[in-house]
Amino acid sequence: MKDEIEKIKVESTEELKKIQDLKELETFKVKYLGKKGSLTTILRGMKDLSAEERPVIGSLVNQVRDLLENLISEKEKELQRKELERRLQTENIDVTEPGKRVKLGSIHPITQIINEVEDIFLGMGYEIADGPEVEKTIYNFDKLNTPADHPARDVQDTFYITDDIVLRSQTSPVQARVMENQKPPIKIICPGAVYRSDAVDSTHSPVFHQLEGLVVDKNISMADLKGTLEIFAKKCLGENTKIRFRPHHFPFTEPSAEADVSCFVCGGKGCRVCKGEGWIELLGCGMVHPNVLRNCNIDPDVYSGFAFGFGIERIAMAKFGIDDMRLLYENDARFLKQF
Ligand code: DAH
Repeated sequence: MKDEIEKIKVESTEELKKIQDLKELETFKVKYLGKKGSLTTILRGMKDLSAEERPVIGSLVNQVRDLLENLISEKEKELQRKELERRLQTENIDVTEPGKRVKLGSIHPITQIINEVEDIFLGMGYEIADGPEVEKTIYNFDKLNTPADHPARDVQDTFYITDDIVLRSQTSPVQARVMENQKPPIKIICPGAVYRSDAVDSTHSPVFHQLEGLVVDKNISMADLKGTLEIFAKKCLGENTKIRFRPHHFPFTEPSAEADVSCFVCGGKGCRVCKGEGWIELLGCGMVHPNVLRNCNIDPDVYSGFAFGFGIERIAMAKFGIDDMRLLYENDARFLKQF
């Protein structure tokens, strides 16, 4: 048995010298030290030995096992070092190669306009307010002086979630929410998505964006409204922009008006963008109706206010010369990165 152990020792150390990679080393380990390995088999057979032989053989096997374990761990380190060297040589990075360009997106034209308009109004001391897109009908209509039987409700008949919850058809409900929670002076704008059951065409979409404005304080007059919107129009569309007001009707303002701006492409002479009119319809506005103030617990005998609201897409289309609204929603990067 001693000879057998000696033979294993000589053979295995020879074999180990020839090993080239970690996989071979693993096979080697199993062959000698594994459950069915040759040294293990000898250890198992020791029960058949005499009491005198047992400790001698036992210590011999243990010596060889320790030796092999040490040799294997050295070999392992050596192979790992070699593998690392090989990888460092073959996988080195050429730092002089030009880098791969990261593709950057661009800010969507609708977001660009919202950012720009926000900046203009923030500069005039406004705060940005927010409200839910899934809105109670009472805020979307009733508090805005548009009761259930009001004909103005028809044109904005939208997507009902339940009888008293709708996808908001305008950003105006945010006015009521702010007035209920905040005492005057109030000076807010609110940009956001709105929903209407409009069929899709080049100027309509069932989802689009509006920006609402509201000012409530003592002694607010139509002059404040006109001055504010004139500054806004010049900042947004160019210093030479002129603004005009036409009488109109909105349930939540009295008096109400629509405002047009002189065409910023032709300066008012008439062109393709303004369809020969010289003017472009910009927004709806007016003095906040006393009923609306009252509905929101603000005393109309003490306070007055003005409000306005406009479509973001319309401004984006006019400013960027986009003739089909659908382009704004198709998310074709080739189109969007132009702006
Ligand atoms: N909410 C109106 C609409 O969607 C726009 C509007 C008009 C908002 C007049 C206002 C306003 O705040 O005073 O057509």
